[in-house]
Amino acid sequence: MDMAMETRPDLRTDIGGLVLKNPVMSASGTFGYGREFAEVVDLQRLGAVVVKGLSLQPSPGNPPPRIAETPCGMLNAIGLENVGVGAFLRNKLPYLRNLSVPVVVNIYGKSVEEYAELAGRLEGADGVAAVEVNISCPNVKAGGIAFGVDPMAAYEAVRAVRVRTTLPLIVKLSPNVTDIAGIARKAVEAGADALSLINTITGMAVDVDARKPVLANVTGGLSGPAIKPVALRMVWEVVRAVRVPVIGIGGITSARDALEFLVVGAAAVQVGTANFVNPRATVDVLEGIEAYLVEHGIADVRDLIGTLQTGLD
Ligand SMILES: Cc1cc2nc3c(=O)[nH]c(=O)nc-3n(C[C@H](O)[C@H](O)[C@H](O)COP(=O)(O)O)c2cc1C
Repeated sequence: MDMAMETRPDLRTDIGGLVLKNPVMSASGTFGYGREFAEVVDLQRLGAVVVKGLSLQPSPGNPPPRIAETPCGMLNAIGLENVGVGAFLRNKLPYLRNLSVPVVVNIYGKSVEEYAELAGRLEGADGVAAVEVNISCPNVKAGGIAFGVDPMAAYEAVRAVRVRTTLPLIVKLSPNVTDIAGIARKAVEAGADALSLINTITGMAVDVDARKPVLANVTGGLSGPAIKPVALRMVWEVVRAVRVPVIGIGGITSARDALEFLVVGAAAVQVGTANFVNPRATVDVLEGIEAYLVEHGIADVRDLIGTLQTGLD
């Protein structure tokens, strides 16, 4: 009998000081504050739950329409609607902290000062395992250019969080750049313990008859299977540019998709848009990864991570 069939593979992975029991996490903004999925997913099976992006003040987001379907994906211009960090700590975190699953809190600010203050609010909050900093949002003091597209602005936002937090610090990169490796290096220089990528790719959709954009905000973020090849390419570039763990995100709907990211070198993955199509997508991906490892006699997921052979190096 095959020995690999008898013992379950070791799925543990380290994402910058935070050891997860397996590499499958939810992606921010697609999984609410976790509880919304508790009826269909045993949250405690996940490597981590990443919650909706939080700002200092509650935000209503953008006006509708703010979602559009696209071939193999979707555009969203939700505009980072959220309850605000205070209400999260009071009303959402108590439920999550009673579960045995690490909670990763995603934050975004409109200025460097806001990032700093958000990090300060989370420091010492019981039940927060790590901070994920979304730098794909506009810097109001720099004319609305996203922090994540300018190496120095990215550095400053990450630095502001780093000096205010002792938690593992994950920086979530924007794909709307020419040189993602350059931004990745700046984020690590500023103190990131891990990087996650990619966030959505800016796009738009047009209603020809109305001569209008489909989204009230005109542009939105593209996500879903359509972006997976771009995400894989960027993860591949980033894993070769930095030494910190990388979390792969973008169009993951199946275990096979997740395995592609792991082979490329991601230490973990996040499942986003797929949750809207299949609310059990996270656990389906997890079960599929485990089944693959068993089938191939791989005892430890870390023996698969970064095993891509390009013939180029
Ligand atoms: C409706 C929606 C809301 C999102 N909200 C956030 C957010 O609040 N913070 C963030 O960092 N990313 C947010 N994202 C980006 C996702 O976390 C993820 O990076 C992106 O969608 C790519 O992964 P996917 O193709 O698996 O969805 C959001 C995505 C969608 C579709």
